[in-house]
Amino acid sequence: MRLSSIALFASTATAISFSGSSIVTNYFSRRDGHNKCPAIWNTISKDLTSRFLANGQCNPDARAAIRAIFHDCGAWNTAQGAKGGCDGSLAIAPGEIDRSENKGLANIIAMLKNMANTYNVGVADMIVFAGNHAIVTCPGGPRVQTYIGRTDSTTPAPNGLLPDVNADPAALSRLFTDKGFSDRDLAALLGAHSTSNQFHFDTSTANVGASQDSTPGVWDVKYYSETLNPPKGIVVFPSDSKLAQYKGVGKEFNGFVNNAGKWNGKFADAMAKMALFGSGNTKNMADCTDSLPKTTNAKRELKAINPFMPRY
Ligand code: HEM
Repeated sequence: MRLSSIALFASTATAISFSGSSIVTNYFSRRDGHNKCPAIWNTISKDLTSRFLANGQCNPDARAAIRAIFHDCGAWNTAQGAKGGCDGSLAIAPGEIDRSENKGLANIIAMLKNMANTYNVGVADMIVFAGNHAIVTCPGGPRVQTYIGRTDSTTPAPNGLLPDVNADPAALSRLFTDKGFSDRDLAALLGAHSTSNQFHFDTSTANVGASQDSTPGVWDVKYYSETLNPPKGIVVFPSDSKLAQYKGVGKEFNGFVNNAGKWNGKFADAMAKMALFGSGNTKNMADCTDSLPKTTNAKRELKAINPFMPRY
């Protein structure tokens, strides 16, 4: 079954199943099917805050963790169904971390692998939880719905499923469509570069460590306007620049300029979807969103509270 043919409801309270043609589970049956979040994730959350927050901003380990969740989960397409995706292969499959597209991720992956061992949890879950924790640790970042209960895998992700910074926009757009993402999802996900510093794309001395917007410690929409009109000192990735002007993705990209409220909601929905790549079913998983820190983005926190959803 193609995932793209399925309506994926990645908002705050939806369960997803690959069995049968329907994947919608309402709030009440979801409650019956879901495990309680193990308390250890509250401890892990505190530990991650001490590692990711510095002087009220998110730090380099937080940025790396946001990239790491993408590189573990995002190396997936709908053809794989309930396999691969967020499976920890970036940390435990031989050779995957050494691929050129994963340059710069070895340290954060070693840290998360150690933490998974220390707390006796799965490394796939640790990568997802840490990535979503890092997002909400950045001031203004949304709290992304986060399930726990994945199966770790030592099978490397197939090659070619992560984007090439120099690829043409049609190929990049297709790559994300094949993961089940819309133009809007892709434009929203690119906004993660709001917190990004680059070390391996432009290796000229002046640009090593350069950011992709002027406020890399903060989760904001400056990335969108500054990709279109870069101030001095910002390195714009060719992929970002081309997608910002490419058909439907470009239209959506422009729609996020100066619109933090809209972007945060769309980003959180797309990210929640990505965090379930390869998890065929959330029935045996636990919703650990409440173990993440609260967002400093007041608008998003209010939106996340659904009056019909039992809190437990
Ligand atoms: C067309 C899609 C994308 C391309 C081509 C791309 C490419 C890149 C490149 C070349 C870097 C710099 C790595 C380095 O030189 O150190 C980078 C960094 C980063 N990317 Fe992406 N990326 C894409 C999408 C995403 C998505 C979807 C996310 C997360 C949702 C993401 C999160 C990040 C983060 C947080 C960093 C900064 C890491 C750090 O500062 O250590 N990227 N990306």
